[in-house]
Amino acid sequence: MNWLRNIWYQAGWSAEVGTSRPLLRTILNEPILFYRTADGALAALLDRCPHRFAPLSAGMIENDRVVCGYHGLAFGSDGACVRNPHGAITSAMKVKSFPVVERYSAFWIWMGDADIADSEKIPNLSFIDDTPEKARIYGNMPTMCNYQLLTDNVLDLSHADYLHPTTLGGIITNAKAMSREVDGTIIAEWQSVGCEPPNAYKPMVPTGLADIWTRVVWQAPALMVLDTGAKPAGIAPLPEDHSFTLHNMVPETETSSHYFFCVTRRFDVENEELTQMLRTAVTQAFKNEDKPMLEQQQARMGSADFWALGPILLKSDAAAVRARRMLEKLISSEASNLAP
Ligand code: FES
Ligand SMILES: [Fe+2]
Repeated sequence: MNWLRNIWYQAGWSAEVGTSRPLLRTILNEPILFYRTADGALAALLDRCPHRFAPLSAGMIENDRVVCGYHGLAFGSDGACVRNPHGAITSAMKVKSFPVVERYSAFWIWMGDADIADSEKIPNLSFIDDTPEKARIYGNMPTMCNYQLLTDNVLDLSHADYLHPTTLGGIITNAKAMSREVDGTIIAEWQSVGCEPPNAYKPMVPTGLADIWTRVVWQAPALMVLDTGAKPAGIAPLPEDHSFTLHNMVPETETSSHYFFCVTRRFDVENEELTQMLRTAVTQAFKNEDKPMLEQQQARMGSADFWALGPILLKSDAAAVRARRMLEKLISSEASNLAP
């Protein structure tokens, strides 16, 4: 499997790692131990001792250092060995460390060449910071499927009409759909004019017909921001009518993914009952409907390559196919730059 490596991957939500609560998480097939030093800074080390390859997570964290539970070597947050109870420390006694940065209540890891890790390249998700904490709905939904199936799922929202009929569905198949490429992103859009609003949109348009828009902006490798909202038919939306949701798919292995999401809104932000109602609707749609379908889809595909199976393509696949093609190009150009 080829992954895009010189890119920031979200590795989790900041609240998942505490000073006394390290986190073991596999990203691109590499087991990584995340922990906080006493000053709160995050460290990311390959969870494999360079001595006899015991998991460092089976040891302990002591005074900002990771102590291997097998023979007691200790490593600092930069990966260098700081204690060898058996003799001298040499420069070879080093565990791989990864650049890690916190932003937007999330933490991000650079899986490629550490010399070119630039935190300016973390995608702009300022809509998360702009939303009061109580109106944000964070999630991580581990899913047993390849991350690109999760991208296909969000870039082809026609599935909502069939898989989420009681919450989100009913308007996409007949909506006006467009997809296009803009500055290295893929944009997929659906406009439903004068429609009966699905239940998830009822808080915005409780009675009568609605105009509903949904716009997904994808960027490599699999990060999408979805902008949606509804107004009574014929009424123009205001900036606060736009609700933004992060859908960020991060490969764990070839056939499993981390699905980080964050639902935000700009209206009625104090209404905790509404937050709870939205949380329930999101959980219903993502965990009880998308996840089982995606996992069964992966099981049917087995380890076969998506294109090798010869999928039939529908009009609604346009954006997802563009994204797959763009990602393939980026991965192969990165691989050819790395080639000797
Ligand atoms: S395997 Fe870690 S010290 Fe031996
Ligand atoms: Fe879905």
